[in-house]
Amino acid sequence: MEMVIGKSSQIQGELNLPGDKSISHRSVIFNSIAKGTAEITNISLGQDCISTINIMRSMGVEVNLDDQDLTTVTIKGVGRTGLQEPNIVLDAGNSGTTMRLISGLLSTQPFFSVLTGDDSLRSRPMGRIISPLKQMGANINGRDGNTKAPFAIQGSLLQGIEYTMPVASAQLKSCLILAAINSTGETVLHQPALSRDHTEKMLGNMGVDIHNEGLQLTIQPFNGEFQSTDVNVPADISSAAFWIVAGLCHKQGKITLKNVGINPSRSGILDVMSAMGGNITIKNSTIVAGEEVGDIVVESSELVGVEIGGDIIPRLIDEIPIIALAACFAKGKTIIRDASDARNKESDRLSITASELTKFGADIEELDDGIIVNGVGSLNGTTCESFDDHRIAMMEAIAAILSKGQTTIKNSDCVAISYPMFWDDLSILTGDQ
Ligand code: S3P
Repeated sequence: MEMVIGKSSQIQGELNLPGDKSISHRSVIFNSIAKGTAEITNISLGQDCISTINIMRSMGVEVNLDDQDLTTVTIKGVGRTGLQEPNIVLDAGNSGTTMRLISGLLSTQPFFSVLTGDDSLRSRPMGRIISPLKQMGANINGRDGNTKAPFAIQGSLLQGIEYTMPVASAQLKSCLILAAINSTGETVLHQPALSRDHTEKMLGNMGVDIHNEGLQLTIQPFNGEFQSTDVNVPADISSAAFWIVAGLCHKQGKITLKNVGINPSRSGILDVMSAMGGNITIKNSTIVAGEEVGDIVVESSELVGVEIGGDIIPRLIDEIPIIALAACFAKGKTIIRDASDARNKESDRLSITASELTKFGADIEELDDGIIVNGVGSLNGTTCESFDDHRIAMMEAIAAILSKGQTTIKNSDCVAISYPMFWDDLSILTGDQ
């Protein structure tokens, strides 16, 4: 589908956003192997989480969508040993989180399984999980010298390891934690920097012994059963990021985003936008199921360029395209460094952000590990491509409403990976209904 979008005269209003994708995946996977029934409210039902739900169903887990409230599901956990051997190939679709977390789980199950994904996912690096899983004794074999999906797994009993992670990746960490809880002996993980910690929080609440000391995680094997745990999923800060930048960069911007997850391991976007001079206020902050939540209010601001790199990068890894767009409207230069892992996402987000924003008239240069943007203050509508990457398509939609003239976004349907109602929310905020 092609979307044609013009400059908007305003971007104002209040939104309830879809549930956090990372927390949604985890609440489905962990409750599937718990005893009892859990209710997950405000779950993300974008295509990525549907992939996770379908995979758990293929292994005998009952996941039911509430027909009154379309953002609630109930999960009837089958317990620690209740998953059944799937008699089909498990398809993670576009979802790296699904593929990497489920692989850790399947490596310890007493059955055979095969995991695949779409073109994008089959080209993403999987050696980062296969190599440490093999060190734990896993029988997992993938394409291209054990670096790519599809892969086949014959589950077995694993041994804990001490492992220094080569990348600050929550998907890798969570994969290894899921393997570690079903292994013999403790597992120690050394992280290069803190990445999102939803797995540690949620499994910790479910009784797993995960000891966190600085960047070192020590996980003990878990004996017994998990208790199912209801989860009220906070709104996704990675979806909020598009509206945060829209509200700050638009001359007539004022947006309130309700109940957004502001876990410090995810809130790098707030720190960067504040450092750029953004007028951002957090209201009604509270803790829900161990996760920080608050309302985010943003208003039109005069932004200035910043330099970012190092430990903040994993805290905003999905927000690099939209930060680059904000930098186009800031005074001066913005430099993003240490972000080469952004090339390994649903698309090569450094290269595509640079090439697509150039079409809008941005002054942007791609680096090996980042991007340099010289603020130009205004952009011009153009024809651009999403490369089937949901976060690129949404960044382009925000660029479109801030640009003079009209923009055509090709292959825009992919927003449904994380945010099926994105176009409706765009219409609400622009008043274009
Ligand atoms: C995610 C972790 C991040 C992020 C992805 C979701 C998760 O990936 O980019 O969108 O839910 O664990 P990496 O762990 O590969 O950095």
